[in-house]
Amino acid sequence: MVYLTRVERFNAAHKLWVKDWSDEQNNEVFGRCANANWHGHNYSLHITVKGTPDPFTGFVMDAKKLSDIVKARIIDKVDHRNLNLDVPFIPSDCQPTSENLVVFFWQELYPHLPPEVDLHRLMLQETDTIYAEYFGE
Ligand code: NI
Repeated sequence: MVYLTRVERFNAAHKLWVKDWSDEQNNEVFGRCANANWHGHNYSLHITVKGTPDPFTGFVMDAKKLSDIVKARIIDKVDHRNLNLDVPFIPSDCQPTSENLVVFFWQELYPHLPPEVDLHRLMLQETDTIYAEYFGE
């Protein structure tokens, strides 16, 4: 079994906020991500598929084809958008944290991958020092 990873990047705005909490409590829990007028992150999404290299191409999967699928299903829907308001597959009552986003991204991507590979891991990097991973369970 061989693992192939493609990296895609996008920029998006969000705000982490619980409407039933006080401003003080939101700022305490979410810090700068609670900024009332939104803020942005430069995200990197690492998509890892696994499979057996094809005897003719040597590819687990054509990395350009993987990129096209990820762009169509995820990147085109989140890039330069507000993750709290603009993305149909992110519920409005759900915090757009990296932990939640990787699960939604998995659900969007998984049904659209070709049968020769299996989705192994999504890793979403929000800052240089924070990332979330999801392995489908
Ligand atoms: Ni943030």
